[in-house]
Amino acid sequence: MALLPLLFFPDPRLHTVAKPVLAVDQRIHTLVADMLETMYEAKGIGLAATQVDVHERLIVIDVSEQRDQAVVLINPNLVWTSSTTHLNEEGCLSVPGIYDGVERFDAVTVSALDDTGQSRVVQAEGLLAVCIQHEMDHLMGKVFVEYLSPLKRNRIKKKMLKAQREDAR
Ligand code: NI
Repeated sequence: MALLPLLFFPDPRLHTVAKPVLAVDQRIHTLVADMLETMYEAKGIGLAATQVDVHERLIVIDVSEQRDQAVVLINPNLVWTSSTTHLNEEGCLSVPGIYDGVERFDAVTVSALDDTGQSRVVQAEGLLAVCIQHEMDHLMGKVFVEYLSPLKRNRIKKKMLKAQREDAR
């Protein structure tokens, strides 16, 4: 297993629309293992392949306290959304240190393949539902800060670029 380098906002590669995974093979097994290791190391609750510069429809999530309930969703497809939404404070490993409110469906149902290539249906609510929506946005090339006002987004962009310049020194 290996830690994978993350892309950070406003890296334009984060806006790439991911393509479907064509086969759940050894390459995908390795990618899933590496993404899980990267997510746990960064203390994140979700990671989309987009964030490690792999533009295929694959996300990993673990919203459990014990960090032992990994959910792997390959080619996820939203099949149902609740009629109700709520504002939830979100963060993102690609936008470190920034947290802000995003309106999300309270509950969603997703069909996907798991890491063995079996199809499954996941009914999610609460944090898991929020996380699935956030990670599926990444696969469409969307970062959560794009839901915020242009003013806020520009402020975040400047802050990120400044931090990245300082890190590069
Ligand atoms: Ni994110």
